[in-house]
Amino acid sequence: MNQTRVLVTGATGYIGRRLKNKLLEYPELQVRIFVRNALKVQKKAGQKAEIVEGDTFNREKLALALKDIDVAFYLIHSMGADKDFSDLDRKSSENFRDTCIEAGVKKIIYLGGLGVKNTASKHLLSRIETGEILSARPDKVVTIWIRAGVIIGAGSKSFEILRNLVQKLPIMVTPKWVTTRTQPIAVDDVLSYLTASIWLDTRENLIVDIGSENMSFKDMMLAAARVMGLRRYVFPLPVLTPKLSSYWLIFFTPIPYKIAAALVEGLKSETVQQNYNAKRCFPEIMPLSFEDSVRRAIKEIEDEQVVSRWCDSSAGDACDIILQDDPSSAIIRDRRVIEFSNIAPEKVFQSVLAIGGARGWYKYNILWRLRGAIDKMVGGYGLNRGRRLSGELRLGDALDFWKVADIKPNKRLLLLAQMKLPGKAWLEFTIEDNTLVQTAHYYPRGILGRLYWYITLPFHNLVFQDLAEKIVKQAGESS
Ligand SMILES: NC(=O)c1ccc[n+]([C@@H]2O[C@H](COP(=O)([O-])OP(=O)(O)OC[C@H]3O[C@@H](n4cnc5c(N)ncnc54)[C@H](OP(=O)(O)O)[C@@H]3O)[C@@H](O)[C@H]2O)c1
Repeated sequence: MNQTRVLVTGATGYIGRRLKNKLLEYPELQVRIFVRNALKVQKKAGQKAEIVEGDTFNREKLALALKDIDVAFYLIHSMGADKDFSDLDRKSSENFRDTCIEAGVKKIIYLGGLGVKNTASKHLLSRIETGEILSARPDKVVTIWIRAGVIIGAGSKSFEILRNLVQKLPIMVTPKWVTTRTQPIAVDDVLSYLTASIWLDTRENLIVDIGSENMSFKDMMLAAARVMGLRRYVFPLPVLTPKLSSYWLIFFTPIPYKIAAALVEGLKSETVQQNYNAKRCFPEIMPLSFEDSVRRAIKEIEDEQVVSRWCDSSAGDACDIILQDDPSSAIIRDRRVIEFSNIAPEKVFQSVLAIGGARGWYKYNILWRLRGAIDKMVGGYGLNRGRRLSGELRLGDALDFWKVADIKPNKRLLLLAQMKLPGKAWLEFTIEDNTLVQTAHYYPRGILGRLYWYITLPFHNLVFQDLAEKIVKQAGESS
């Protein structure tokens, strides 16, 4: 069979991970993925994606990834980066387009955002600029630019915000942006458009705006509440400023201040379809209604089948897990050793893998919650990112205010702290023979860093001892 060779970039991100899984179901496709950290993609039995490691700022690695490729997906953005993300996005997309041309790629498929330039936020402007750069050489490489607004799917940023607000607040006094109109779309439909674009016969660039019903954010909240069987009341209040609404979002949803502020900025302008190319080019795709897409997202969560989440990417503050699997630079440690007999070490490791999230942090959960609330107040993630699945972790998964930096089945779990700290911290669990060793590693930054450690020491004595003991106890009970 003559296979089409496809490259998926951003294959460790929210959309890219799901798209990779979908494309692997097509025998007529040969799939290659381009990732910054190959350890983040588990090679499941039967998955045949070829992996090339690198980033878009490295032209040599890009050339390697794009060699012999027919169709290349661009599913990358630099929004979480500390530096100016617009500059990074510009450079990244230029590199990608130019390397695609050199490699003889026939088509680029890009997923950007819905919305128009004159009312666009800084984030959306950068997404528009990326699309323009990618499609600037139609004589050399054709670009299909799919534009989506709010994506509804388990773990998507917008859906998690919606779900948390609706579940936690019976009465919502909201800023006036809740009346802004948008056209949400189910993540599975986004994947259908992206996939179908591989075979769309076009010699010209194409912009395809996708979406389901045209509705306001208020309509979305009330419809999501109906699906969840909840009665909710929404009262828009014009005096709530963007800053205030960002604070309001961080306390009731899993997102930190920086992301909340960018989102609120974006929510002020309409994100609705500007063309009908979706119907014209892909008449066979019938987008799910908003309520059905919410049902599907909730089912994915309830069935413990969440494939990817908004916080999977390694971008963002102190979040890059490459080269973070060795905490030997730490200079302060809290080490707890618990011996166990009559319990299989695998059981203890399973118990380690189940910490946090909805299960909480055992007896002193209240102290962990307090630390999470403080983290939220200073712009961090806090505890409410939870976890993707209750019993499974993979490299790069967010776990409350931690990120999985290393995982060796039945031997080691290393969590990198993503909370706001005057220093750097890890929490490590290792199992050797019949012993669980739990170590909190800390590298303080200056005097403040040291002060932080000593002020929190009494709490550490409580929470860390209890955590190690309960992990083993839990394993014993499940044996
Ligand atoms: N998610 C949504 O709700 C939504 C809505 C509308 C449009 N979109 C568009 O869909 C696209 C994908 O978004 P997403 O939500 O899937 O993003 P995401 O979850 O933040 O993932 C971004 C991906 O890009 C990778 N990446 C970042 N910089 C890179 C670089 N320089 N070189 C190589 N890889 C790099 C990241 O790798 P690491 O894992 O190593 O960090 C990650 O895999 C974006 O264009 C976005 O604008 C998304």
